Amino acid sequence: MRIFIPLCIFLLPFLVEAQNPNDYDSDLLPASFHKERREAFRKLMDSNSVAFFFTNPVRQRANDVEYVYHQDPNFYYMTGYTEPNAVLVLFKNKIILDSISTNEIIYVQPRNPSDESWEGRRLGVAGVQSKLGFEYVFENTSFQDLKLDYNRFKKIYYPYSYNDVRDDPYNEGDLFSLMKIFAKQTEKFKEKKDYVGLFTRCAQLRETKTSQEMKLLRKAVDISVEGHLQLMRNLKTGMKEFQAQALVEFGFKFNGAEFEGYPSILGGGENSCILHYVTNRKKLNNQDFLVCDAGAEYHGYTADITRTLPTDGKFSETEKTIYNIVLEAQDAGFKACQNNNSFRAPHNAAVEIIKKRLKEIGVISNEEEYINYFFHGTSHYLGLDVHDPGMNGKLKPGQVITVEPGIYIPEGSPCDKKWWNIGVRIEDDVLITGGEPEILSGKLPRTIPEIEKIMENASNFINLPSEK
Ligand code: GLY
Ligand code: MN
Ligand code: MN
Repeated sequence: MRIFIPLCIFLLPFLVEAQNPNDYDSDLLPASFHKERREAFRKLMDSNSVAFFFTNPVRQRANDVEYVYHQDPNFYYMTGYTEPNAVLVLFKNKIILDSISTNEIIYVQPRNPSDESWEGRRLGVAGVQSKLGFEYVFENTSFQDLKLDYNRFKKIYYPYSYNDVRDDPYNEGDLFSLMKIFAKQTEKFKEKKDYVGLFTRCAQLRETKTSQEMKLLRKAVDISVEGHLQLMRNLKTGMKEFQAQALVEFGFKFNGAEFEGYPSILGGGENSCILHYVTNRKKLNNQDFLVCDAGAEYHGYTADITRTLPTDGKFSETEKTIYNIVLEAQDAGFKACQNNNSFRAPHNAAVEIIKKRLKEIGVISNEEEYINYFFHGTSHYLGLDVHDPGMNGKLKPGQVITVEPGIYIPEGSPCDKKWWNIGVRIEDDVLITGGEPEILSGKLPRTIPEIEKIMENASNFINLPSEK
């Protein structure tokens, strides 16, 4: 007994603490990161301004089923909070409210044992104070009591309002209520309201990653590489696109990804020419080239990687030709990923190659026709969003962008039929440095010999179910 009682006393707070959703992972961004980001945002705010950040809405999927909740990336960046129905208010300067003097307040979901027994644990006010390091935290229903004198602010930053925010009539602190209160209180100050300003400032900050963010982004990329390797090692003729998807996503989930950063694109044959194909139901046959564009999300940060694989493990002559053009374009894109180059430089470099080579092989007769076969940009920023915000200015150390040229020749294209239904995209994630760019996903095989080698010994690990 003498041992039992002190042990219980010791263990009880530990067990209660362990129930907190933020306690399962030891590598989440620390509260100090988010605090520092808010400080950086504040520096970019105009004098005499206030900014509002709202959480993402909860969205309906089916009766009694919601889409898995995902936080708004700006909100996450500023707070680390991953639950819905909250609002963050940032002030450029400290203001006095009732008896408190502060430059930030956050309103969050209260703890609620009954709701939590259905939906999962919440941080609540105390958790947001202790885990996320906010000093002034209130329950979301108190947002209506924040009576700001908007006459004294020159600017009110706020995000676009979604038009699919559901009113939960039983929840006075839901996002619908929070946004309604904000809209009502600020309706007379339309000329001060600035949503572009909020996004621009977030983009200015988010386009350069801190070392803490890079740890998570590297992890997302490494996990994604594992997922793509699973596919390369196990892809077989006769598989369905969704089985190929299962292989990649197995690699993601097994290695700790919470989500896919975007719906995985597994397009074989004719589907390889659809940029954001997500049906993933077709049976793959020997002749099919398979575009696999899939990225794992880890603690909010997502990778974005594409490989194009011959289903049977061997590139045909036509596939080789198109593939090598895209590869050459990607190499040219990598070379252009230099400090102080324009954001468009990798795209311009990739276009030059694709134009020239498509003309050489007779797919086009005039270089400007390249646009019919390569009709997307080569790069976007990458981070909390797969298409991360950024200023599209000069490339700078700490920025992460994709380099993803492609060629897509759908059936019926005005060229020799032998090229039809070949779609190729090769996409890697690149860190801009002061010197050579670092290809974060560079461990994943990319060239034809490398890919053929890894696919040569397709594993028997996957037994395809027999056809019924
Ligand atoms: N996965 C979408 C893209 O590559 O931009
Ligand atoms: Mn991309
Ligand atoms: Mn992609």
